[in-house]
Amino acid sequence: MDRTNLVVSDVDGTLLGDDAALAELRNWYDQRRDRLKLVYSSGRFYQSVLESIRTTLLPEPSAVIGGVGTDVHIFGKDTPLEDWHYSFNGWDPAGVRAVLAAHPELQPQPDHLQSRHKLSYYGYDLPPEFIEHLQHQLEHRGYLANVVYSSQRDLDVLPRGANKGTAAAFIARHLEFAAEDVIVCGDSGNDLAMFQQPQFRGIVVANAHPELKALKSPRVYHALRPYAGGVLVGLQHWSSLLEG
Ligand code: GLC
Ligand code: MG
Repeated sequence: MDRTNLVVSDVDGTLLGDDAALAELRNWYDQRRDRLKLVYSSGRFYQSVLESIRTTLLPEPSAVIGGVGTDVHIFGKDTPLEDWHYSFNGWDPAGVRAVLAAHPELQPQPDHLQSRHKLSYYGYDLPPEFIEHLQHQLEHRGYLANVVYSSQRDLDVLPRGANKGTAAAFIARHLEFAAEDVIVCGDSGNDLAMFQQPQFRGIVVANAHPELKALKSPRVYHALRPYAGGVLVGLQHWSSLLEG
């Protein structure tokens, strides 16, 4: 790879999950730091991702996208990039909460997993019709919100336009990368939006949930290895193609 690529990767279930494979990826990446810039994108918040960086072999990234695309932090800066929040118009968390409270299938996640831009619930094995119904209900009441369902358990409601995909596009622009130089990696539903960004290339790890396994596109590589091993073979795949 002569060009520099930007790798935007999910953390839990994608980079984390197999320590030996992460060590292997880390070793490979350490020799290519000048050609691969790294951004983490997690459903967790910035401080929690920092804790994982401190306690595992995860390399230090250039930036961290936290809260399912709702906060974008340059690595080392406690305050998120303000510009990103300017696009969150028409977001009414109190109104959204009231709509969700009427559904006994949903239990709010603990307070430390909530923010002013991310309302999260647990709801087990919800069918796609339920998610669609919820989305329609919110639209009907005029709330500009987006429902994201992951791992048959986690339901996040985010301001319209905020997700891991749009946040990845935002940080790519901020770091001055063209969309075709971005490679995204993931394992579950909240990562789907990254794979839907036009021109991004993708890596789906072998342990991914069905919502990502179903992706079919020449721009999406389905790794035969799980976790960081899948990211490693995926990056090797894309780098050999990009090197031409
Ligand atoms: C992380 C977050 C949780 C969210 C889930 C899926 O586990 O902590 O709040 O629901 O990701 O996005
Ligand atoms: Mg994950």
